[in-house]
Parts: sequence; structure tokens; C-alpha cells
Amino acid sequence: MTRTLIRGGTVVTASDTFAADVWLEGGKVAALVAHGTQTATELGNADQIIDATGQYVMPGGIDCHTHMSLPFGGTTASDDFDTGSVAAAHGGTTTIVDFAIQSKGTSMRAGLDAWFAKAEGKAAIDYGFHMIMTEANPGTLEEMAAMVREGITSFKMFMAYPGVFLVDDQQIFRAMQRAGELGALITMHAEIGLPIDVLVQKALAAGRTAPVYHALTRPEAAEATGTERAIALAEMAGVPVYMVHLSAQRALERVMEARDRGLPTYAETCPQYLFCSEDDLRGDPDDEWKGAGYVCTPPLRPKHHHDHLWRGLRNYDLQVVATDHCPFCMKDQKELGRNDFSKIPNGMPGVETRLHLLWEGVVAGKISINRFVEITSTAPAKIFGMYGKKGTLAVGADADVVVWDPRREKRLGVDTLHMRVDYSPFEGRVVPASPSHVLSRGELIVEDDRWVGKQKQGRGQFLRRGTFGL
Ligand code: URP
Ligand code: ZN
Ligand code: ZN
Repeated sequence: MTRTLIRGGTVVTASDTFAADVWLEGGKVAALVAHGTQTATELGNADQIIDATGQYVMPGGIDCHTHMSLPFGGTTASDDFDTGSVAAAHGGTTTIVDFAIQSKGTSMRAGLDAWFAKAEGKAAIDYGFHMIMTEANPGTLEEMAAMVREGITSFKMFMAYPGVFLVDDQQIFRAMQRAGELGALITMHAEIGLPIDVLVQKALAAGRTAPVYHALTRPEAAEATGTERAIALAEMAGVPVYMVHLSAQRALERVMEARDRGLPTYAETCPQYLFCSEDDLRGDPDDEWKGAGYVCTPPLRPKHHHDHLWRGLRNYDLQVVATDHCPFCMKDQKELGRNDFSKIPNGMPGVETRLHLLWEGVVAGKISINRFVEITSTAPAKIFGMYGKKGTLAVGADADVVVWDPRREKRLGVDTLHMRVDYSPFEGRVVPASPSHVLSRGELIVEDDRWVGKQKQGRGQFLRRGTFGL
């Protein structure tokens, strides 16, 4: 059984920052001891010593919103569980929760089996699944119990994408009530898609086809109203609700009001909503098509939203930063919407760069280092039923560890990142810090930006998650 000692670093959890050596054994955290207080003979010899002097030792990141190999808009997200999970690990993320899909007219079981087939033998880090529900009929409501038994304890429903994912309020409400019985959590894509579709058709009829119209036809009001409606439905059902990829001030205000009233309302945002804006969607003055690389849903908002979202993170109104990683290459994939913005596949790459970018918020004093750990690891572990095993550094927890070097600059770009996509939304940006070592269940898998794990494809394990953890 390999014994690893991470020596000389500063341990950071969601609540504490302290100088300690970290012992890992059997894939678990075995001990946290003050520097130099324990001799090798007392704890036994280490098979491997990692020098973390001058660095932070933190729980591995948990990205609870990814879409590996997602079929969307006539194409498929370009990262699969192999390339996407390897990229995640290079960025310090050691667990992902991806979205399986129950397609209309088919069972959740079929959707889950399809996602097992995508992940098994491929994922390099541990993974769980949420289940996207495209209908809440007696059969699917019944099946929710079987999913919870399998460790699929959260379900996503959409108010957007009519004809594909959209479900009506009655179905959402029924699913929420059922989730309440099962201890499961409903997560909501809360843009109201029916009026959005009218705006899209109107823009196209007027010849407005450029990528920026993706944002101009999905206004903030559509997300704010959807958010308020989802909160009201959850309040009526007496259950918690989790808003995925919240992008805008007014949607955040609806969450804040709900939380001020004591409702168990939770929300995540994503790096793209903190660092990119509608200006990116406009592309370059001589190349508006460049904006296609920034088409995601909800759309990027004007810059003034950034401050509101950072404040939300600082004040605990937003609990999580996940990525909504859903990459499509510019060539052949985004290209599908060259003459019609509504045909540009929705989504951006991000699973690898989440910690790099958010650390800028720590450096700028927007969030504390403990809050950084909380929103990238601890809170998603608690909300999605993984806490204790994942999401912290404590004796008995999985030894998923990031040794984070605050002085290891990195230039982000297609040539330095590992995601399987032909552009980077952050091309050329130099971030101040990066991981020097990443460990997954005690195994060193990334060192100095190189994969060093013994095995790659298939070393990740499926995570049977517990019910709602808060
Ligand atoms: O643009 C996005 N977000 N693509 C993935 C689908 C979703 O709504 O999360
Ligand atoms: Zn969504
Ligand atoms: Zn998503």
C-alpha cells in the first residue's frame, strides 16, 4: 500500500488554513500533522515524498456540471470522458458530475446505461451523474427512485429548448414533489424558452444571423423570470432547488430574495459568467464570427454583471462555481451556425481552467482562499451527496489532493491546455498560479503539467452519491 507524504505545505480547507504535513495511505487521507512534529519512525516511512514548501495543499476540485460527449444541435461535444477527465485533472479537478439524459419516450435506465457506456473504461478521474429529465410522467416519476438507489440523486429539468428538453411547470412540480419524497435534488435550467424562441425567429427573419444575436434574443428577463418561477414551484412543493449556470444580476436577486426568506435555494455560476461578456460574443470588429466560440446558454451578459456575481459568491448567495464544460470546435462544429446563430452548438470549454481563473479572484481579494476551496470543492460535495469522501482534507477522506503553487504562472491557450477543442476562450491570458501536483485517491496523476499516473483511461471510479447533503 503506497504511503505518500506531502511535506511542508499550507493546508487549506473551506474553514481552515494551517501548516501541516499530509499523509496519504490506501487512497485515503491518513493523517494531518504539524510540520516537523512527527518523525518518520512514528508514522512509518513514506514511499513517496512531495515537497509542498511555499504551496497550498487543498482538496481536489469537484466540477458538478460537465457534458462529456453530449449530443447537441446535430453534433457531439468534442471532449469525451477520456480527454475531458484528463484535462480536468491537469487543472486540479479530481471529480466531475456529468449529465446523463433521459430522452423523450425512453427510460431513465436507458439514459443511465448510455452514460455508463460513455464513461466506463474511459474516465481518468472519479465521476458521478445527474439525470436530465425530459418528461415527468408516471413512468419517469417512478423511475426516479431507481436512479436514487443507483446514486443518481439529482435531476436536471429545463424551462428552455422547446421540443428538446423543455418541460412544463406541472411536470417540474410533480418531479419536485417526487424528489422531496426521495431526498433527491432538482436542478433547474431556468430560462423561459417559449418566448425566447419567438425572439430568435424574429431576429432570423430580419436577417440578424451573427453570434451576438444569441445573447440579444435571450434577455436577462427570461432568466430572472424562470428563476423566480422555479423558486416558487420549489416553495410550493416544500423542497430545495438548485439553479444551474446562473448568469445574471436579476436572476441572482431572485435567489437572494428566496434565501432571505429562508428558502433552501442554491445556485451555481460558471467562470464564463465571471470572466467573459457579451463583448466577446460580438467577436472582433473585422471578424464577428469569432463570437461563436462564446455561444453558451444562458448567454454571456454585459460586463456589469460580473461584480454582482462575485458579490454573490462572497456573500454565500451563490454556493458553487462549476464549468458547464460543453466544448465544440470552431471547425465543423460551431461552423454549423455560420449563417444562423441559433444553429451554433451551445457550450464552451472550461473543465481545465476553472481553478486557474478563480484564483485570480483570490489574488484580487474578491474571495478568500477558504471560500475558493468551498465553492470549487466543498459546497458541491455537500450539495450533491459526496461530502466526507470528497470535498475536504480530513482523516478518512479520499486522498484527492491538489498541491497549488501560487507562483506557477501559466499562459492559457490551445497549445498549453488539454481539452480536445480547437480554440480557447482565454487564449493568451496569463494566470498567476497552477497546480504542481494532483493526486486522485492517493495516486499522483499530474506533476508539472504532465500525466504521470500509471493508468489513464478507466482509472476513474463511478461515484454512487448520497441524497441531498444539506
Ligand atoms: O451552453 C450550454 N450550457 N450547453 C450545455 C447545455 C446546458 O444547458 O447546460
Ligand atoms: Zn442548462
Ligand atoms: Zn450544462
